[in-house]
Amino acid sequence: MMIFLDTGNAKEIKEAASWGILDGVTTNPSLVAKEGRSFKDLLQEICSIVDGPVSAEVVSVEADAMIKEGKDLAKIHKNIMVKVPLIPEGLKACKALASEGIKVNVTLCFSPSQALLAAKAGAWCVSPFIGRLDDISEDGMGLIQDIVTIYRNYHFKTKVLVASVRHPQHVVEAAKIGGDICTMPFAVFKQLVQHPLTDVGLKKFLADWEKQNVPRG
Ligand code: E4P
Repeated sequence: MMIFLDTGNAKEIKEAASWGILDGVTTNPSLVAKEGRSFKDLLQEICSIVDGPVSAEVVSVEADAMIKEGKDLAKIHKNIMVKVPLIPEGLKACKALASEGIKVNVTLCFSPSQALLAAKAGAWCVSPFIGRLDDISEDGMGLIQDIVTIYRNYHFKTKVLVASVRHPQHVVEAAKIGGDICTMPFAVFKQLVQHPLTDVGLKKFLADWEKQNVPRG
């Protein structure tokens, strides 16, 4: 499973990338707005840190405008993946951009039928938002299972990018189901590695080693 960071914060991306296991980044207009800097500069910096897909979302809602925006974004760096919303105009834009070889992430997916259409429109990936479904007492992970089943049934190449992840268990469940990519906030990324028994175990190993004064050579 590929691991992406869901943030527009360059410091977080640098730290996560330094672990050597970061495969890409997703941004959205809300995350970018928080950074208070030029979108283009931000994307250039992110692309210089991570050698993998970097999602940049359009803010137009009509296909022609989305296509133009998408082409401009794709020119910024070879790793830019254009993100379009899962609405009819977004599907039109996805089809057009994909037919020109531009990678498209179709976002704001909340149902299996939407995911089916994104795949048919040639999306490189679809982003089902599981946390937002859980927030309204719907089954976010059930949606991931449905999409994985549908894509496997028809051998769609579109990847399932599990989004709106809230905690490590979301990541584990998505991996068990076979989601292709999980994008998560930096806080969740850091939680993935933590275990109290690892900390206790390491402390004891080091203390025992020091106590015996084991020769280094
Ligand atoms: C995905 O690409 C989105 O940026 C993201 O996962 C949304 O998550 P949220 O529901 O935590 O805002």
